[in-house]
Amino acid sequence: MKIFSANIEDLRTLYISNLKKALDMEQKITDALPKMIDKSTDPQLATAFRDHLRQTEGHVASVEGLLRRITGDADTITCKAISGLITEAEDSIKDASDSSIRDITLIACGQQVEHHEIAVYGTLRTWANILGLTEDARVLDSILSEEKQADVLFSSISDGVNLQAAA
Ligand SMILES: [Fe+2]
Ligand SMILES: [Fe+2]
Repeated sequence: MKIFSANIEDLRTLYISNLKKALDMEQKITDALPKMIDKSTDPQLATAFRDHLRQTEGHVASVEGLLRRITGDADTITCKAISGLITEAEDSIKDASDSSIRDITLIACGQQVEHHEIAVYGTLRTWANILGLTEDARVLDSILSEEKQADVLFSSISDGVNLQAAA
C-alpha cells in the first residue's frame, strides 16, 4: 500500500489517536489483572498473570512516554474493544462452574486480550515505521514481543489446565 505525502499528516493523527487508545487499553488491563490473579487456582497461571501485570505496568509507562514526546501530554481515548473483552471475561468467570473451568476461562479471556494487544501493537509499529518514527517503532516492537511471549505462555499453561478440567 502506498502512502502519499498528503496523507502523512492524516496518518500521524490516526497514529496518535490509536496510541491514546492503547494507553487506555493498558490502564484497563492493569486494573483487570489483579482480579484475574485472585480468581486463578493454578499457581502457574497466577504467576503468569502476576508477571504480565508487571510487564503491563511497563507498557503503560512506555506508551505514556511515546505520547508525551509526540503530543506533550498523556491523554487517553476510550478503547471500547478492551472494555468489551473485560466485561465478557467478568461474565464468563462468573458462569464458571468449578476451579478448573474457571482457570480455563481465565486463560481464554487472557489470550483474547493478548491477541487484541498483538493486533494493536503490530499496527502501531507499522505506522511508526511509515512515519519515520524509528524510536517509537523500537519501543512498540518490544511491547509487541512481550504480548506475544505472554500469549505463548498462556497456551502452554492451558495444555496442563485443560487436561485437569477434562479429568
Ligand atoms: Fe500490554
Ligand atoms: Fe498483554
